[in-house]
Amino acid sequence: MVRLRDLGSIALFTVAITAQTSTYVNPAVPTGTPIAGSYAGALRPQIHFSPPQNFMNDPNGMFVDANGTWHLYYQYNPTGIVAGNQHWGHATSTDLYHWVNQPIALFPPEERVYVFSGSAVVDVNNTSGFFPSQDNGVVAMFTLARYYENGTAGPQTQNIAYSRDGGYTFEYYDTNPVIDSISSQFRDPKVSWYEDHWVVVVSYAQEFVVGFWTSPDLKNWTFASNFTAHGLLGAQYECPNLVKMPVRDASGAVIDEKYVLAISIQPGAPLGGSVTEYFLGDFNGTHFTPSDAITRLTDFAKDNYAAQFFYGVPDGQNQVNMGWASNWQYAQRVPTGNLEGWRSSMTVPRVKYLTEAPRIGMVMVDEIYDLTPILDSRLKNSTFGNGTVALDYSSVDSGALYIEVNVTNINTFDLKDYSTLNISFASPASGEILQSGFYFGGDNPFFVNRGGIKGFDNIFFTDKFSTADVYSTGSDNGIASWSMKAVIDRSIFEVFVDRGIHAGTVVFYPTQPLTTLNLAAQLPAGARVSVDIWSLKSAWAEYEDEQGTVFGNVTTISANSTARRSMVYKSDFSI
Ligand SMILES: *[C@@H]1O[C@H](CO)[C@@H](O)[C@H](O)[C@H]1NC(C)=O
Ligand SMILES: *[C@@H]1O[C@H](CO)[C@@H](O)[C@H](O)[C@H]1NC(C)=O
Ligand SMILES: *[C@@H]1O[C@H](CO)[C@@H](O)[C@H](O)[C@H]1NC(C)=O
Ligand SMILES: *[C@@H]1O[C@H](CO)[C@@H](O)[C@H](O)[C@H]1NC(C)=O
Ligand SMILES: *[C@@H]1O[C@H](CO)[C@@H](O)[C@H](O)[C@H]1NC(C)=O
Ligand SMILES: *[C@@H]1O[C@H](CO)[C@@H](O)[C@H](O)[C@H]1NC(C)=O
Ligand SMILES: *[C@@H]1O[C@H](CO)[C@@H](O)[C@H](O)[C@H]1NC(C)=O
Ligand SMILES: *[C@@H]1O[C@H](CO)[C@@H](O)[C@H](O)[C@H]1NC(C)=O
Ligand SMILES: *[C@@H]1O[C@H](CO)[C@@H](O)[C@H](O)[C@H]1NC(C)=O
Ligand SMILES: *[C@@H]1O[C@H](CO)[C@@H](O)[C@H](O)[C@H]1NC(C)=O
Ligand SMILES: *[C@@H]1O[C@H](CO)[C@@H](O)[C@H](O)[C@H]1NC(C)=O
Ligand SMILES: *[C@@H]1O[C@H](CO)[C@@H](O)[C@H](O)[C@H]1NC(C)=O
Repeated sequence: MVRLRDLGSIALFTVAITAQTSTYVNPAVPTGTPIAGSYAGALRPQIHFSPPQNFMNDPNGMFVDANGTWHLYYQYNPTGIVAGNQHWGHATSTDLYHWVNQPIALFPPEERVYVFSGSAVVDVNNTSGFFPSQDNGVVAMFTLARYYENGTAGPQTQNIAYSRDGGYTFEYYDTNPVIDSISSQFRDPKVSWYEDHWVVVVSYAQEFVVGFWTSPDLKNWTFASNFTAHGLLGAQYECPNLVKMPVRDASGAVIDEKYVLAISIQPGAPLGGSVTEYFLGDFNGTHFTPSDAITRLTDFAKDNYAAQFFYGVPDGQNQVNMGWASNWQYAQRVPTGNLEGWRSSMTVPRVKYLTEAPRIGMVMVDEIYDLTPILDSRLKNSTFGNGTVALDYSSVDSGALYIEVNVTNINTFDLKDYSTLNISFASPASGEILQSGFYFGGDNPFFVNRGGIKGFDNIFFTDKFSTADVYSTGSDNGIASWSMKAVIDRSIFEVFVDRGIHAGTVVFYPTQPLTTLNLAAQLPAGARVSVDIWSLKSAWAEYEDEQGTVFGNVTTISANSTARRSMVYKSDFSI
């Protein structure tokens, strides 16, 4: 969630509050209808989720329902372009790329009490008793953060709300909070189901503790254990996630399963600002026991924070998450706010499991969730030894590409310090360039450099990132192979190195669209480079009306609403 001082601006947005039913309603915030937005801006990602307007941060409440609809809620300020006035925005998808904006799902219950981060579950067995005759009831658990009139932070408590319509609208439970507190630094509950009870992990942010609590019914919570001061502390622990996932061998076969406890730290990440670390271990229903003393990071760059795992992905399967693709060091300053009226996107959806990485041991792998629904056409496929690929993709409307590179038959005894493979994206109009590449020899760095992009300048907007990839030598004859996959989408680049053992998420803000790709490889004799480049279809364009506006799921039409013209899909919901 957000730091106290990030909320300094909340007072600006709490205009003329009027009571209506049990919640306070800010007349500037629409209820019962989605917020409309334009997704046409030159910096607006086309295959990533971003809010219709204004400021978004952490993903919240993520679950997949029994019909395969993915629900994404998010920390949302519907009335400002910086953090503050926190609500839960909402969007749904059946493929994790085409998102339908839904009406805001959770509103502040009182003046100056904000809905901070949390999670949601489907209570199939009606353990909560909220659901008289259904098996698709949804219970959300989240932090309510109180601020006093003098601007100081009051308590953060854990609360629930239930939805009888599958997660579209919620009622606050009438005996909240379900975990009380007097601390102003206690937040971000993430609920999951363990055999016969619910478990929630909650962050005591400034005490560096993840608290584990259990409950039979989501209402009555009992303290179970604390996981205290592990790994990097930064200056706060936030957004814990506890999730079980498969361990796979090199062939992809499941050989075991293990728990991951992820903790987002902010501020004070090694590269500055926000980052997510994770621990591998076992969980017995009350206690998480790490299997080693290793602190692992989910990303080698700076723009993947507070990722949340979807509830409801069946046990034993690869898990799925999405993160907030930004960093508190500059999230509230990036130029999309002034230029296009929105700030922050999520990462692409990622498939997660554990595997052994050469030399460094077990790690969580990131794969891009099935891109088929947005794959457009293959712009290039080439195979060569030394060589280059040049592509002008200015005719790709979305500006979004998917790139896959395999390098095989690398004779590691013949590596030179110039044995490299680079991919860059440039704007011939402005000369801006985003670079990335891998050194097959030496310390094996994979790097990304956004320093050649000129649309944003900030002291904390670090421009170069790298990781060390100990790629597989395959066998002891010194012949190795290597791979990478990447998505570029107007203002965000996500790269998955060496089967996804390393992931880098990098936002960048060019003054002119990047429209050319250049790949260059210089490798030992015998090496083969195989490259596939696909254009991606905009996931938003098909929801735009003639004026380029995306209205979301407008089902109730009020006489004076601009929503009259709108529809979700051009063919559905005609008025
Ligand atoms: C799934 O779809 C059916 C038919 O539209 C509906 O009755 C049911 O409530 C849906 N289930 C969930 C979990 O949303
Ligand atoms: C629901 O009940 C079934 C049968 O008792 C049980 O196996 C399952 O774990 C329960 N799941 C949840 C989420 O309550
Ligand atoms: C759900 O729980 C409530 C409260 O215990 C109960 O009244 C209702 O009958 C239950 N519904 C089902 C379908 O079990
Ligand atoms: C702000 O108001 C709260 C609640 O009235 C009070 O407890 C607190 O001491 C005040 N803080 C300051 C700095 O005035
Ligand atoms: C809450 O759960 C605890 C432990 O299971 C139990 O002892 C207690 O009676 C429950 N309280 C209520 C109000 O249900
Ligand atoms: C768990 O940690 C919290 C936050 O530091 C602390 O208040 C609580 O006393 C701890 N509980 C135990 C049993 O250590
Ligand atoms: C879970 O692990 C903790 C710590 O090792 C232990 O104290 C507790 O008894 C275990 N619980 C069960 C149900 O095994
Ligand atoms: C390139 O694509 C064509 C058509 O899909 C296919 O026949 C060919 O095998 C591919 N070539 C390489 C080198 O992958
Ligand atoms: C890749 O980029 C690095 C860093 O700019 C450069 O030293 C190297 O020569 C490039 N490799 C190729 C094959 O162009
Ligand atoms: C690449 O060029 C170098 C230097 O000319 C040469 O030694 C090497 O064999 C070439 N590699 C491939 C894969 O053709
Ligand atoms: C890379 O290798 C994988 C695994 O063998 C294969 O599925 C994929 O098609 C290859 N891609 C390219 C561009 O060669
Ligand atoms: C629109 O919202 C309603 C609930 O208000 C929901 O049942 C329906 O599935 C939604 N449709 C789409 C396309 O999201």
